[in-house]
Amino acid sequence: MSSRLRIAIQKGGRLSEKSLKLLNQAGLDFDNRKERLFYSCQNFPLDIMFLRDDDIPEYVSDGICDLGIVGVNVLEEKKLGRITHSPLQIKKLKNLGFAKCHLAIALPEKDQFDGPGSLSKKRIATSYPHLLKKYLSDNNVEAEIVEISGSVEIAPTLKIADAICDLVSTGGTLRSNQLKEVQKVLESESCLIQTETKLSEEKATDIQRLLDRISGVMLAAETKYIMLNAPLDAVDKIKSLIPGMEEPTIIPLASDASKVAVHAVARENVFWETIENLKLAGASSILVLPIEKIIS
Ligand code: PRP
Ligand code: ZN
Repeated sequence: MSSRLRIAIQKGGRLSEKSLKLLNQAGLDFDNRKERLFYSCQNFPLDIMFLRDDDIPEYVSDGICDLGIVGVNVLEEKKLGRITHSPLQIKKLKNLGFAKCHLAIALPEKDQFDGPGSLSKKRIATSYPHLLKKYLSDNNVEAEIVEISGSVEIAPTLKIADAICDLVSTGGTLRSNQLKEVQKVLESESCLIQTETKLSEEKATDIQRLLDRISGVMLAAETKYIMLNAPLDAVDKIKSLIPGMEEPTIIPLASDASKVAVHAVARENVFWETIENLKLAGASSILVLPIEKIIS
C-alpha cells in the first residue's frame, strides 16, 4: 500500500479552484497541468485525484481516497441515500469556509406561500431527492419529488414541476428564472472529509500535519495585524475598538512623548467602520496588514 495520502477534489465547478488554492496556501506544490486527473505534490506525501463531486463521498468511504473536499450538501445527500444499506464510512474533519450556499425550496414569484403546507401535492424538481424527502417528511408534507440532474431552475417554466429545491448562493439563478426562495432546507459550505477505513500511523500523522496547516491558513485569512499611532490618553478607548484583539504591544514614539505606537493582532476582519471609529478616537497612521500564517 502506498504511504502517500490521496485526496479527492472536485474536477470542475464551484469547489475545484478554491480547494486547490487552499492546498497551495497550506504550502503544497503540485504541477498544474490541467488535463491530468492526478496531481502529485512534490513537497508533501499527497496526491490529488480529480472526481465529479457526486462521486467523492463514495471514493472516500471505500478508502480509494483517504481524504476529500466536498460540499456539505453533497455529503448529506449521499449519507441519506445510503442510510438503508451500508452507511458511508466517512468522518468530517473540518468545515473549510468557502463555497458557502444553501439548499432551498423556491416557487414561481407569483405563487403564494404560507408555510410548508403550501407545498402539499406540488411537484418539486431537485437534484437532492433524499434531502428534499427528509424535509418534506419532517414537515409532514406530501409532495411529489421530480428528480433532475441539472438545470433544475428551468423545471417550472417547462411545466415539469411546480417548485424547485436547489442550491442558492447569490440568488441570481432564482431571480433570472422568476423564482423566489421560500424555505431553507440545508446550510452548506465546503468541508474536509476522511475515510473511516484504518490508516497507517504515517498517514494519520500526515493528515494531522495537513489539518494544522489548513487551520493556520484559515485563521490567518480572518486575522489582521494593525499598527497605528495614538495619543496616550486614547489607548484604552482604541484597544476597545479593535475587534477580537489580543493584548497589544505599546511602543513609545521617538519624536512625540504624548503619543505611542499600538501594534495588535485582530482576530476578526477589520472593516472600514472600525477604521473610521479608530480615527475618531484619535488614531493616526493606521496600517492594516494581512497575516500569512499563524502557528500557535
Ligand atoms: C448551483 C445551483 C444554481 C446555482 C445557484 O448550480 O444549481 O444553478 O448554483 O447559484 P446562484 O444563487 O449564485 O445563482 P451549480 O453552479 O453548482 O451547477 P450545477 O447546477 O450545474 O450543478
Ligand atoms: Zn445549477
